[in-house]
Amino acid sequence: MANTALITGASSGIGKELARYHAAHGGNVILTARRAETLEALKTELESDHGISAHVFALDLGSAEAAKQLYDTVKDAGLTVDVLINNAGFGGFGHHIDRALDDELAMIDLNVMALVTLTRLFAADMAERGGGKILNVGSTAGFIPGPNQAVYFATKAFVNSFSQAIDQELRSKGVTCTVLAPGYVETEFAKVANLEGTNMLKGGGATAESVAKFGYDAMMRGDLVSINDRQLNVLLNWIVPLLPRRMVLNMVERNQSKS
Ligand SMILES: NC(=O)c1ccc[n+]([C@@H]2O[C@H](COP(=O)([O-])OP(=O)(O)OC[C@H]3O[C@@H](n4cnc5c(N)ncnc54)[C@H](OP(=O)(O)O)[C@@H]3O)[C@@H](O)[C@H]2O)c1
Repeated sequence: MANTALITGASSGIGKELARYHAAHGGNVILTARRAETLEALKTELESDHGISAHVFALDLGSAEAAKQLYDTVKDAGLTVDVLINNAGFGGFGHHIDRALDDELAMIDLNVMALVTLTRLFAADMAERGGGKILNVGSTAGFIPGPNQAVYFATKAFVNSFSQAIDQELRSKGVTCTVLAPGYVETEFAKVANLEGTNMLKGGGATAESVAKFGYDAMMRGDLVSINDRQLNVLLNWIVPLLPRRMVLNMVERNQSKS
């Protein structure tokens, strides 16, 4: 079995649960996010509960060179990444023109640029070794445009598209790339994105633990796209593509509004 997983955004939510699940399967973990103390606590927990090795590299992945720096740090430590999990990401509520441009660009830096950089660097090593698994955390948001979160939805459309193409390019080299596209999950995400009070949150969401297991199992099978929410799966794949675009925009806008 592939043994060492690098997990971005491992200090909270889906990333933390992915780290727990991989460790429970006997895999070593490389944990990264900005909150060093939280990562150190998770390292202690996973090493004591599962007898695995955990490594912590705390950094802000949203700066231009950070992802490359993370790759270099991992290599300098003599670690081989068998499983790359690009999970770190954040959203942000509001009309694009009302939001700070720096916040919108920071979202692209983390959700897209860091993910592409880590995929490019680690996937090349995996292909050279003839094996490896990548799990990119996209979103059901990636299937539709998202008024009130325009940049976030667009970043996730990028992740959904990019991941499938990467899988096609690398599968013959023994490397698979799965995109996990969750619906709403109850994590710190909604608070960070200022989404509290939106209609989207009213029905509640899935747990991070269930989504992490769903996505991890899909990655291990080498699935292409994995949507944990069955209703959304049917809606986004079979109904939304047939609807008029303006109707879809109105639906999403209502869902992403505070009323
Ligand atoms: N929750 C949902 O409804 C939902 C639905 C679909 C997809 N997703 C996606 O799932 C992924 C995980 O989100 P989550 O729901 O688990 O949210 P979360 O609880 O807010 O976790 C986000 C993780 O990303 C890390 N992160 C944020 N900014 C960072 C930065 N600049 N540099 C490095 N790490 C950073 C955070 O750690 P630090 O703060 O310690 O840096 C945290 O570990 C994201 O890509 C999100 O877009 C979430």
